Amino acid sequence: MCGIIGLISEQEFTLKEAFMKLKKLEYRGYDSFGYYDTEILIKKTGHIDIPRKNKKSKIAILHTRWATHGGVTDYNAHPHQSCDKNITIVHNGIIENYQELKDDLIKRGHKFRSETDSEVVAHYFEEKLKTKSIKESCVDFINEIKGTFAVLLIKKDENRIYALKRDSPLVLGICNNKNILASDIYAFSDISDEAIFFENDEFAIVEKDNYMFFDQHGKKINKKIQKFLWEQEESEKKKFRHYMIKEIMEEPKVVKRLLFSFKTEQKSNFNKFIELIKKSKKILFIAAGTSYHASLLGVYYLHECGIEAQTLIASEFRHFATIDKETIVIAVTQSGETMDVIDGLKYAQKKRAKIISIVNVPYSTIQRMSEVSLNILAGQEVCVAATKSFVNQVTILLAIAKEFGFKINLDTLAPRIESMLKQENKIKKIAAEIYMKNDIYVLGRGLSYPVAREVALKIKEISYIHAEGMMGGELKHGTIALIEKGTPVIALISNKDYDMLSNAKEVEARGANVIKVANELNGDINVPTSNDGKFGVLAAIFGQLLTYHMALERNLPIDKPRNLAKSVTVK
Ligand code: M6R
Repeated sequence: MCGIIGLISEQEFTLKEAFMKLKKLEYRGYDSFGYYDTEILIKKTGHIDIPRKNKKSKIAILHTRWATHGGVTDYNAHPHQSCDKNITIVHNGIIENYQELKDDLIKRGHKFRSETDSEVVAHYFEEKLKTKSIKESCVDFINEIKGTFAVLLIKKDENRIYALKRDSPLVLGICNNKNILASDIYAFSDISDEAIFFENDEFAIVEKDNYMFFDQHGKKINKKIQKFLWEQEESEKKKFRHYMIKEIMEEPKVVKRLLFSFKTEQKSNFNKFIELIKKSKKILFIAAGTSYHASLLGVYYLHECGIEAQTLIASEFRHFATIDKETIVIAVTQSGETMDVIDGLKYAQKKRAKIISIVNVPYSTIQRMSEVSLNILAGQEVCVAATKSFVNQVTILLAIAKEFGFKINLDTLAPRIESMLKQENKIKKIAAEIYMKNDIYVLGRGLSYPVAREVALKIKEISYIHAEGMMGGELKHGTIALIEKGTPVIALISNKDYDMLSNAKEVEARGANVIKVANELNGDINVPTSNDGKFGVLAAIFGQLLTYHMALERNLPIDKPRNLAKSVTVK
C-alpha cells in the first residue's frame, strides 16, 4: 500500500517522465499523489494526473497514497515537509509511535499541517539535525521508530536521496546514469534488470552515480546486485478496455508458460518443494483474500490424495496456528508483500517452522523469506482483482497434488480455459440480468466451496454488489432466510454433486433465480471438463467474467476499485 519513488540522475528528466514512473505504482494506492524536486511540491487527491508543466529536474521523490492515518485530502497527500522546508519525505508504512513523537515535537515548537503519521518523519529529522549529522539521525530513526517504513528523504541543500526501510518494501534500481528507488521493480523494469533489495533496518545514501548502504548501527555494508527477469511487454494494456479483461484473456498463455517452467527452469525448485512437503509432519498454508481461496483448493486437492493439510487466513494465523520445527508453512501470494502474510511467517520463523512459498512477484519479501519459492509466472497483474495469478496459483497446487496422486491431465488445462473464455457472451447475458441486484449468493460444496468464496469476493470488490460465497450445506442453517423471489443464487455443481443439486433445489423452491454452473448436467453455463481439479479453475473464470461484465454494466472503475490497493502492506 502506497507506492514511493526516488529518482536521481546525471541527466535531467521531465516532470512527465517522473510521473510516468509513479503511474506504474498506482496500483499500490490511488487516494492521492505527490511530487517534490527541491523546487516544486505537488500534493493532490485523486488518481495520478500527469502535470502539463514543462519542468525538468535531476532529483525527485514521488508518492501514491492508500490512506491509513488521516483522510483523503491534499494536506494529507505526501510528500511532507519539516517546518523549515529543508526536509521533505515520502513514506510507505505506519509509524506506530507517531502520536508520542508528535506530542514531543509539538512541545519543541513544530507545527504540523496534516493528520498523517508520516509527517512526523520530516519534523523528526529537522529536530535531530539541530544536534546530529544526517547519518546519525538515520541511525536514531531506525532505532527509535516503532512500526514499518520505507522512507525517502531529500535534504534541500544536498544532491542525494536518503532511503530507510523496515518491513515496507524498498528496492534500488541500478539504471544507466541514474538510480531509482522504488517500492517495487515495476517502477524501473522497463529500463533495468538490476536491483538491490533493502533488508529490514538498513538505510542508504543514494547519489546519481553512487550509493552506500548502512546497517542499523551506521556501519557500511556491501550489498549484492541482483539480476531479475521480467516480461515488460505484458504490463501494457494494448487493445483491451481494462487490465482486468486483458489479464483474464492471458490465462491460457500463462498456464502454458507455468507448466513448461516445471519441466525447465523451475524443475529443480519444484522437486525441492515436493521433497520438503514429503518430509514435513504438518502442512500449513497461509494466505489472504484470493490467494487464501487458492490455498483452500490446494488443501482440498491434497486431502483427495490422503494428505493432511490446513490453511489459515494470514491475519489470524498467529491466533490459530500450532506449529513447530517439523511444520512446513506454505505462503501463497501474488505480491509477495502482503503484511498479514509476512507477519504470520515471522511467527512461523520464531517457532522454527520451514517456510516455502508460491509467489508472483520475483524477489519480493516473502520470496526472500522462503527456503524454496515457486514463481507463479503470471506476469505483472495490474488490475487490483487477482485473476490470472489465481489461475496459476491453483495450477501450481494441482501440479503439486498430482505428485501425490491427484488424477489430472494438466496438458489440457489451457485449452479448457480457452473454451471457457469463449463463453464470454453467454456470461455477459447473465451479467446483464443480475447486475442491478443488491445481493448475490454463490454456493459450492467440496472443491467448489473455495471457488464460491472466490467468485463472491470478485463480485464484491469489482461490481460493488454484496455477495456471499457459502458452503451449500450451510445455507439451511440460517442464511436461507434471506432468499426471496428473484434473489440470484449461483450454484457451482461439479460432477453431478447431488447434495449440491439439492441445495440448489432448496433455494429454487423459495423463488431464487438459480444460475447453474455445472459440467455433467445441463447448466446455464457448462464447464468444459469432467475433472474436479479443472472444474475449480474454470468455475472461478466464470466468476471473473461475470464480475467484469456486471461492473461494466454499472460503469465502475474496474481496474482500480474504491478503497482497495493491489499490494496490502499494512496489517
Ligand atoms: O498479493 P496477495 O496475493 O498476498 O494478496 C492477497 C489479497 O490482498 C488479494 O488476493 C486480494 O484479495 C485481491 N484484491 C483479490 O482480488
